[in-house]
Amino acid sequence: MHALITGGAGSIGSRLAAALIERGDRVTVVDVRADPVAPSASFERADVRVGETQAAGFIDGIVAETRPDAIFHLASLLSGSSETDSELAWRVNLDGIRNVLEAARIHGLGRVLFPSSVATFGMGVGDTVTDDSPQWPAGLYGVTKVLGERLGVYYYQRFGVDFRCVRLSAMVAPTAPAAGAASAFVCELYIGAVRDGGYTFKVYPHSRIPLVWVDDVVGSILQLHDAPANQLSRRVYQVMGSNPTVQEMADAVRRRMPDVKLGFDPDPVPAGVVDSWASSMDDTTARADWGWAPRFDLEGMTDAVLAELAAEGSAG
Ligand SMILES: NC(=O)c1ccc[n+]([C@@H]2O[C@H](COP(=O)([O-])OP(=O)(O)OC[C@H]3O[C@@H](n4cnc5c(N)ncnc54)[C@H](O)[C@@H]3O)[C@@H](O)[C@H]2O)c1
Repeated sequence: MHALITGGAGSIGSRLAAALIERGDRVTVVDVRADPVAPSASFERADVRVGETQAAGFIDGIVAETRPDAIFHLASLLSGSSETDSELAWRVNLDGIRNVLEAARIHGLGRVLFPSSVATFGMGVGDTVTDDSPQWPAGLYGVTKVLGERLGVYYYQRFGVDFRCVRLSAMVAPTAPAAGAASAFVCELYIGAVRDGGYTFKVYPHSRIPLVWVDDVVGSILQLHDAPANQLSRRVYQVMGSNPTVQEMADAVRRRMPDVKLGFDPDPVPAGVVDSWASSMDDTTARADWGWAPRFDLEGMTDAVLAELAAEGSAG
């Protein structure tokens, strides 16, 4: 298979590219930044936004030229930057998915894979959100993701574009969290523990949050891509790894780093936001239809993220 990954220089995209190459697929990465991408992936510096002169922008030209079998559309602004630069978020997140779907329609491509987010749900949605819980996001990022989901389903129903979407829990990765995101404390905990020897939470210890480790994100995207069409009962599937409380996350770190200094100094505003989120994502449909099962629970994820951060520290 030839896979085109937009946003392929990012946290998920770079691992997805490596995983595809590892299994023998050919990969073209499209990104606006030229960070090192997976070895042996082709790289195109390009923008998924609408071009001045072409309806479907530069992405259309790349798709016409390279004719991928699947597009993994990951290019996006994340939650914090979507609030600080709403104009750019609108163009990257909304024009981007439209351009990709248009290119897929025009050139009769195979699959379009798209990651959505738990941020499509707003506050006060109750304990567990299902695939079909009402989506009334509190931030622009979530709004753009709801629209991406809906547009993809529309292109599937109207034009037969094979759109497939994973709606992800908050992702844990050994990379700096998105600036300004209320969920930033998740990655800050691990980075603070390894680099600074500690971390003070601004959120409540009892808050429970749905998480997923980055390698499980990549695994879920690949599994959904590979699933036979006749096994899919829907186009958008929820995916969760584990849903510990903040205290349980801290305890898991402390078990591995007994000297780490972890404390709580909740700030009522961000703490209240996090506390009002859904504490669990029901992913039973993904499990039933295409065999989704996370490989990393809280313990496995804590081992993985601390090991990767420690390795980075000793390499740097
Ligand atoms: N990180 C999370 O917690 C999380 C959770 C759910 C869904 N997602 C989604 O997964 C996808 C990837 O997220 P990530 O965590 O790897 O983010 P990331 O910021 O690491 O990667 C996004 C990439 O998109 C690129 N990009 C931005 N604007 C672009 C443009 N106009 N044209 C081309 N490339 C552009 C960036 O340079 C970056 O490399 C995004 O769609 C995100 O919304 C992420």
